[in-house]
Amino acid sequence: MHSQPPTAYAAEALGALGAPDALDALDAPEPDAPESDAGESDAGESDAEPGSIAATARAARRDFRQLLARFWPLTAPDRAGLAVALLLLVTAAAADTVAVWLFSDIVDGLADSGGLAAFWAPARWWVAAAVVGAVATFAGAALTGRATERFLLRLRDHTFGHLQRLSPDFFAKHSVGDLVARLSADIEVIESMVASGLVQLLAAAVSVLFFGGAVFLLRWDLALVVVALLPLLLLATRRLSRRLGALSRDERASNGALTARLEENIATVGLSQAYGTQARHADQLHRVGRRWMGIRLAQNRLSALYPPLSDLLETAAVLGVLGMGAWEISAGRLTVGGLVGFATYLGFLFGPLQRIGDLVLTVTSARASGDRIAEVLDTPPLTTDRSPASRLPARHGLLQLAGVDFAYPGAPGTGLRDVSFTVRPGELVLLAGPSGAGKSTLTRLLPRYYDPTAGRITLDGVDLRDYRLDTLRRSITLLPQEATILTGTVADNIAYGSPHATPAAIVEAARAAGAEEFIRELPKGYRTRLGHRGPQLSGGQRQRIALARAFLRDSPLLVLDEPTTGLDRRSVTDLLPALRALASGRATLLISHDVALVPLADTVLTLDRGRLVESPRDELALPTAGRPAVGVG
Ligand SMILES: Nc1ncnc2c1ncn2[C@@H]1O[C@H](COP(=O)(O)OP(=O)(O)OP(=O)(O)O)[C@@H](O)[C@H]1O
Ligand SMILES: [Mg+2]
Repeated sequence: MHSQPPTAYAAEALGALGAPDALDALDAPEPDAPESDAGESDAGESDAEPGSIAATARAARRDFRQLLARFWPLTAPDRAGLAVALLLLVTAAAADTVAVWLFSDIVDGLADSGGLAAFWAPARWWVAAAVVGAVATFAGAALTGRATERFLLRLRDHTFGHLQRLSPDFFAKHSVGDLVARLSADIEVIESMVASGLVQLLAAAVSVLFFGGAVFLLRWDLALVVVALLPLLLLATRRLSRRLGALSRDERASNGALTARLEENIATVGLSQAYGTQARHADQLHRVGRRWMGIRLAQNRLSALYPPLSDLLETAAVLGVLGMGAWEISAGRLTVGGLVGFATYLGFLFGPLQRIGDLVLTVTSARASGDRIAEVLDTPPLTTDRSPASRLPARHGLLQLAGVDFAYPGAPGTGLRDVSFTVRPGELVLLAGPSGAGKSTLTRLLPRYYDPTAGRITLDGVDLRDYRLDTLRRSITLLPQEATILTGTVADNIAYGSPHATPAAIVEAARAAGAEEFIRELPKGYRTRLGHRGPQLSGGQRQRIALARAFLRDSPLLVLDEPTTGLDRRSVTDLLPALRALASGRATLLISHDVALVPLADTVLTLDRGRLVESPRDELALPTAGRPAVGVG
């Protein structure tokens, strides 16, 4: 039921989410995956209420309608295909009906005359019906499959597109693994309901109409025997579907928890080896895996009950009909062919009935997955475009903060209080301060990962909220505290934010960032492929590639969060001219504890517990630099 989707791709894309907007991966709280976290999608108690068959049918219908209302719009480009597929499947059912009719004709013909003459004519028609049925079945299945796969792709793209707009907050609450599970397995379950599920349901319903109609046309009195047994089948479906609904929600949540554990355990293998905690990790994984296994086994047992139950009912129906049929034949009111045809129709009738029952069970599982996807889609981005928003990017980079207050959602004591300062074009402002003071937090307000709770931030005199998000982010180059390396070559990584950069410009940026030397020594130079997070590079090398990436991007405001982390004294000294050159043409906000950078600064500001404080230069124990010390402004 769960084929393995491109999970690696999804994990990579999710991991990279931090990078496109230069999200500060280190500063974001570690994706922590408590088992309960993944299970939070509080699926409604849709079918928990006890009640009649009608109540179950209502609950299933409601689930189905909600799924459809939510996801049906995404089938738009494939609706014509789905309609044709439905038509083909109906044709196939009609061909089957005709075939059985001819079958009973042949049997009667043989019984009456015993000659081959009575065989040939219906046999020819039978062959024709069989061929039509076969072609229609194949084409219908192929078309449904195509619509199914395309819907799957569209739903995943759509959900990921939304995910990309969500704030760091969302990613702090949900572990990567759980999100991967949602974008892979859960999406498949929904698909099985919305696109192919709907076609199958309709095709089965039409088949029931055909075969049921034939049964009633042949002998309505015998058909009533079957109708009498139907409530039993519905009752079985109802009981199973209620139990399965609850199990499915547990199963989806548990699956998310397992993926999350796996993701974290694999990502931290290095740490667990260093601390000798492999057994603990293996045990954690085993426990989550066992829980999942338990739920899956219960699910399997329940699902396995359904086919034999309906088979038993079918047997009862067929035997009842044969018994009554024998009586009718002996009384001369029914032919052998008529009875054979009737019994065959019955066999055909139970197939689609069973499928409809199965689909009712699928709806309940799909509901759990639908809720998990809906939870993602219903999370609004924290910041959105105002309308009308300016399409013009900032040109000068004049950054002004006035009375800015900020607290992280749900964490009132954190953040910034009454921060005001200005960075002018051509000016370099150094922001220092103890760990946890709120420096990186400040950088997150500039590309609007978050908005201030009070006060104003303007760029070239325009409130940040009056820019379109994409133009705003194009106006700012942010070097996050933690260097992010993506799968791809060194050159790809440097050109990440500037896709049109020439090779010469890439080399130039690398040289300015002091990366040139070590890149030349890599096996394939700029064409060396780096893995996700760049495991084959040293911390300082990763930092320099990230710095080159920032250098290459031409934007009026440059924000560098601890650019010299992991660099030795000499590299820092080598970096200074490049930083100075880079800062000269634009407004630069440089966050650093590094006194070596202070001579570069036109202004030094110190942040402490979210507030700007005075006398920064003394605290940094500076040799009096050649530049004027400017206070808090
Ligand atoms: N997503 C978040 N939710 C709640 N609180 C947060 C979040 N991110 C950071 N904080 C808190 O905000 C405060 C400021 O964090 P920030 O990362 O801005 O510090 P910093 O000055 O950059 O420190 P460092 O020099 O160590 O990088 C800290 O107390 C931190 O715990
Ligand atoms: Mg920081």
